[in-house]
Amino acid sequence: MAVADSFSGRRAVRRPTGIQLLKNDRFLKALRRQPVDRTPVWLMRQAGRYLPEYRALREKAGSFLDLCQNPEWACEITLQPLERFDLDAAILFSDILTIPDAMGLGLHFIPGEGPNFHHPVRDRAAIDALGVPDPMAELKYVSDAVSLIRRELDGRVPLIGFAGSPWTLATYMVEGGPSKNYVHLKSLMYNDPAALERLLGKLAEAVTAYLNAQIAAGAQAVQIFDTWGGVLTPEQYRRFSLAYMRQIVAGLNTGDGEVPVILFTKGGGMWLEAMAETGASALGLDWTIEIGEARRRVGDRVALQGNVDPAILHARPQVIREAVGQVLAGFGSGNGHVFNLGHGVTPEVPPEHVGALVDAVHELSAPYHQAEP
Ligand code: CP3
Repeated sequence: MAVADSFSGRRAVRRPTGIQLLKNDRFLKALRRQPVDRTPVWLMRQAGRYLPEYRALREKAGSFLDLCQNPEWACEITLQPLERFDLDAAILFSDILTIPDAMGLGLHFIPGEGPNFHHPVRDRAAIDALGVPDPMAELKYVSDAVSLIRRELDGRVPLIGFAGSPWTLATYMVEGGPSKNYVHLKSLMYNDPAALERLLGKLAEAVTAYLNAQIAAGAQAVQIFDTWGGVLTPEQYRRFSLAYMRQIVAGLNTGDGEVPVILFTKGGGMWLEAMAETGASALGLDWTIEIGEARRRVGDRVALQGNVDPAILHARPQVIREAVGQVLAGFGSGNGHVFNLGHGVTPEVPPEHVGALVDAVHELSAPYHQAEP
């Protein structure tokens, strides 16, 4: 059937998110726990400083934020790892901190230290003063990048959109930057939990609108990065992180599951059952849990994404291959596995090691997907 695409100006006969438009739909099928021929693989931070072509473009652009805010550059960087490696998905090149930046906190990056805000949010007055950014105004550059990337991908692989969880965004907004002990945020949590809940509620609203804008622009799956949910007690995790992610999942225009939602809480291995009840299609796992155990606990309800130790990319290709084999065997035969690292690729990794990992996933996974006799 001829399929016109909505970007060419012709009338779209299918929504741009449709799986039918894709040349490689392994990733979306695995997220829906449908059969595939090979385990699909993509890597958190697959675009970034470990690639010389990324460093060259960043040099030209001047800064990381300039790269994010220019849709042509963001598109080019999104596609860079796909030129080198046989990846089954692309992820929008952007950052979780675009939302607090659009809220007026003054995002900037300090070399060797990471993201920082000129105006951290530390008390109720500052929280009350925060507005919820309009994704089609302050953050329009993100939707523009998504549309452009979809056009340039031309159905090669699906595009993943993303945002940070409210709790994880709050860690940066309240601390003012990366933190070891979260002194300011945890003080706020214990001394004025209602103020923190007000902040998290605003962020949940902002993230929902932002992800819906990415979906409207063409994101075919979305991931919520809850990088710092694991620093909470179980009760706090449910109250200050999971509750807001559940609210976001409920508010997303997923077209009845057509756009899968992946929840990734780093350090969340002990809470998988609760995460599986949020309505998300898939859970991202870090490397501190065995994927086989995770599958036994929640694999009948959600797909699983992960979870080789990202540090494996510093090892020799043969060692990388063995580690890939272990994760594949840990998940075992059948549907519902998306291969990934347990966290992002780090800047020191040799690019050819990423290639060795991606190829090993495809080569070694075929036997796990043979049709049942
Ligand atoms: O996965 C991808 O390829 C998409 C791109 C992506 C980036 N940031 C690009 C980036 C994604 C998905 C993110 C999410 C993000 N950003 C998270 C959640 C995921 C995670 O890693 O836990 C967090 C916590 C952030 C905040 C942030 N932005 C940090 C901690 C840093 C690193 C600072 C440093 O100096 O290492 C950034 C900057 C950043 N985001 C870079 C990239 C490629 C490095 C920018 C550069 O120096 O060129």
